[in-house]
Amino acid sequence: MSRPFRFAVAGAGAIAGFYLDYCQRRADKEGIVLAGACDPVPGRADTLTAKYGGRAYASMEAVCADPDLDAVVILAPPPQHAPLAKQALQAGKHVLLEKPLAQSVDDGRTLVNLAAGSGLTLACSPFILLGDRQQRVKKLLAGGALGRPVLAVADQFHGALEMWHAGAAQFYRDSRGPLFDVGPYPLSLLIDWFGPVASVSASGGTLIPDRIGLDGKPFRVDVLDFVSAHLRFRSGVLARVDISNVDRGSNLHGLEIHGTAGSLSLSRLMDFNAEMTIAHGNSHDWVEREGDPSAKPANGVDWSAGVYELARAVRERRAPANSASLGLRVLQTVFAIEEAARSGKHIAIEAFS
Ligand SMILES: NC(=O)c1ccc[n+]([C@@H]2O[C@H](COP(=O)([O-])OP(=O)(O)OC[C@H]3O[C@@H](n4cnc5c(N)ncnc54)[C@H](O)[C@@H]3O)[C@@H](O)[C@H]2O)c1
Repeated sequence: MSRPFRFAVAGAGAIAGFYLDYCQRRADKEGIVLAGACDPVPGRADTLTAKYGGRAYASMEAVCADPDLDAVVILAPPPQHAPLAKQALQAGKHVLLEKPLAQSVDDGRTLVNLAAGSGLTLACSPFILLGDRQQRVKKLLAGGALGRPVLAVADQFHGALEMWHAGAAQFYRDSRGPLFDVGPYPLSLLIDWFGPVASVSASGGTLIPDRIGLDGKPFRVDVLDFVSAHLRFRSGVLARVDISNVDRGSNLHGLEIHGTAGSLSLSRLMDFNAEMTIAHGNSHDWVEREGDPSAKPANGVDWSAGVYELARAVRERRAPANSASLGLRVLQTVFAIEEAARSGKHIAIEAFS
């Protein structure tokens, strides 16, 4: 057995519990060990580590100074992603960070270059492309099951955050709206499957600027709370992606891919156990079916998957499936979509190798 892979969490808020719950549930822990957590709000790291193990570090500096630590998993708010990742990489730690990779394409590129130059592994959420069903779609596409893919349609109707998130007002501001917050889910899948995007056009707006928080207090939103984007991939595939924090309830959580010889539908694009159906040739009938049609949207996400993929990638000396380079392509694309939606122009995306 190789030595344990020890990671710490930076940011002991809402999502940290999901990550660590799922890490704890794993039957085979593969020698992956939680070393501890840090959070600037007093008591949060103590509460998290009391439940899940490891130590409460006094600060991110203390995390970075721990010589026995292999990696840092960054679960802080988006404006902190790039600065914390940079700090961890400069201290020689591998990094998994929540989406989006950074607050600008330049900052994202700096991180990717820093990791590459230091021989460290940098992985970026979302990791839903690691899901069983999502991996199956990727294999089917690569194997030509649909002929040549020509069109993809994806819906990310994520609901108004103030329906459930106590800090919704701040979340809208910090996350820059659903395009940056949840747009990376469909975009990561599509870019993983079809390669980089060449250009985008989009429309969108702030459709519900005046909102009421869970505490009953009104607040204002000025980010784009709905975007409909059209993407042209370098591979020739066209896609339409809709992303929303407007809906109260929605059945729009899935995606479809249409090729020259078949169509594929995934009932919920985020779920590892979503239902997948395929129609072949000239038939309208969904003749192949697999997955769980009863699973609710966003159920079935294994929140430990990114941590385990990071550890395996480091051990196997390979890039993680959810690499920071993919995160950078996603970041380029969301910024281009935002510019297209605000300007009404068609925006080209710079290629990088
Ligand atoms: N909540 C969700 O459903 C969800 C789902 C997927 C991804 N995410 C992503 O996870 C990240 C965290 O979201 P959340 O909902 O847990 O937010 P949260 O506000 O509940 O928790 C974030 C925590 O990070 C801490 N923090 C702030 N600055 C820090 C720093 N410099 N170093 C260490 N910790 C710091 C905060 O004190 C807070 O405890 C965000 O990027 C978000 O987009 C959230």
